[in-house]
Amino acid sequence: MKRIILITGSNRGLGKATGLKLCELGHEVIFTSRKIDNLNPIKKEVETKKFNASFYELDVCDLGSIKNLKKVITKKYNHIDTLINNAGILNDRNDSILNLNSKLLHDTMDTNLFSPLNMIQQFNDLIKKSSNGVIVNISSVLGQLDSMTIGMPSYRISKCAINAVTKVVSEELKENNIKVNSVHPGWVQTDMGGSEASLKIEESVPGLVWAATLDQDGPTGKFFFNKKEIPW
Ligand SMILES: NC(=O)c1ccc[n+]([C@@H]2O[C@H](COP(=O)([O-])OP(=O)(O)OC[C@H]3O[C@@H](n4cnc5c(N)ncnc54)[C@H](OP(=O)(O)O)[C@@H]3O)[C@@H](O)[C@H]2O)c1
Repeated sequence: MKRIILITGSNRGLGKATGLKLCELGHEVIFTSRKIDNLNPIKKEVETKKFNASFYELDVCDLGSIKNLKKVITKKYNHIDTLINNAGILNDRNDSILNLNSKLLHDTMDTNLFSPLNMIQQFNDLIKKSSNGVIVNISSVLGQLDSMTIGMPSYRISKCAINAVTKVVSEELKENNIKVNSVHPGWVQTDMGGSEASLKIEESVPGLVWAATLDQDGPTGKFFFNKKEIPW
């Protein structure tokens, strides 16, 4: 099945690499970035390789921006098959929760929790029009409750909370057969992961592509790393 796949924060890092791989596999990808010019290099690559893709501005923290995109996509495509909530920030590497700056916590929750939820609220009717809808929330093992520890507190809390969103939304959308899962990409060499990270981007992408292109009878309401289920 050729999918129409919307990816947030797809101008660099995992969003960009996953989008290009999905294009290579024959899917049509909607690349988005909060600065449209940052999509120009991808646009060039897509044109050279004759991939199917479109490019739009989207700041996931701005509900108006999400609603504008919804209008454009509704007009152009009338449905989407996969939403990948990928955009994320990690701004509190060395902070303690005991004196956590509240603006930093709010900003992190805004990008990593409320924004993906807003995307789901705005786009679920377009996903319901797919014959095999999929939502992927890019999460992290840093949000796993079992192994929760000190360091990066706002990031951990935001990823734990998006996992709860995955669970609740997956239950609500079961009757529409929309698969909703959280995916940990691994510790990956991106701007966020840093050069010391254990995985190259191309080693992480197959797990994300798999989750974005699940079959009709694929899993829902689960947390995955590299195609394998992991605990919450
Ligand atoms: N790399 C890792 O080791 C790792 C591990 C676990 C989970 N993750 C998760 O994987 C996802 C992708 O991370 P990455 O490693 O690819 O990070 P990255 O290279 O830092 O890329 C983050 C992307 O999110 C976008 N973004 C941030 N705020 C946004 C906003 N308000 N609106 C639209 N886009 C926004 C950025 O856009 P700009 O260019 O405009 O800033 C960028 O495209 C994140 O959800 C992250 O938490 C990563």
